[in-house]
Amino acid sequence: MILLIGSQKGGAGKSTIAVNLCVEFARQGLDVCLVDADAQRSASRWHADREESGVTPTIASVEKLGNIRDTLVDLDTRYEMVVVDVAGKDSKEMRTGMTAAHKMIVTVRPSQFDLDTLPHMSDLVEQVRDFNPDLEVRVLLTQAPTNPNGSERTDAGEYLSDYPGLRSMQTIIHERKAYRDVIGEGKGVVEWNNPKARGEVMELAAELMA
Ligand SMILES: Nc1ncnc2c1ncn2[C@@H]1O[C@H](COP(=O)(O)OP(=O)(O)OP(=O)(O)O)[C@@H](O)[C@H]1O
Ligand SMILES: [Mg+2]
Repeated sequence: MILLIGSQKGGAGKSTIAVNLCVEFARQGLDVCLVDADAQRSASRWHADREESGVTPTIASVEKLGNIRDTLVDLDTRYEMVVVDVAGKDSKEMRTGMTAAHKMIVTVRPSQFDLDTLPHMSDLVEQVRDFNPDLEVRVLLTQAPTNPNGSERTDAGEYLSDYPGLRSMQTIIHERKAYRDVIGEGKGVVEWNNPKARGEVMELAAELMA
């Protein structure tokens, strides 16, 4: 399966979600390949740290820029799970990745600036469906405040109901220090001591595979 993590907004948590899902899928025993299709190389740097510290399970990684379609199609024949991290903008990598992906997660923070990018993303998804009619697109709220009275879920949900092509995920990823702490260690939060972060990444992986 090819899972693409994209958004047109920088800093919306794509690389964080990509590497944490890789670890969770690998922990479940899947053969996983992380594709870094962003010239910033955040995912590759995380991967290098993981290799250097000898953390297991190991995860394969590939860097590819430009048209990534053929690379993804090929990797899909060799790995059970191919997780693709792209840059925070409408890029060639994101568009070509969308033509090959089975599923796409669009990360958004609960901010109007992030939500404002969804109409364009919705149009893009409609265009790509001409080439890849089965692409499943799910919007994931990330970096949500942990304040229990937050109305982010309902606010974002209401906004999303205007875009039937973009279904929101049940799982919400909250703003937690653990997500920042694990990165330099080359780990995922499922390998860390924060049960809430671990729980939400496991829930996310389960929801994606359901
Ligand atoms: N759930 C979270 N809780 C706390 N911090 C987070 C969370 N998700 C991401 N961050 C932090 O926010 C910053 C941006 O996250 P990340 O690099 O994953 O976003 P991105 O969408 O990949 O950015 P870019 O568009 O630049 O590639 C990083 O410093 C990251 O550690
Ligand atoms: Mg990134």
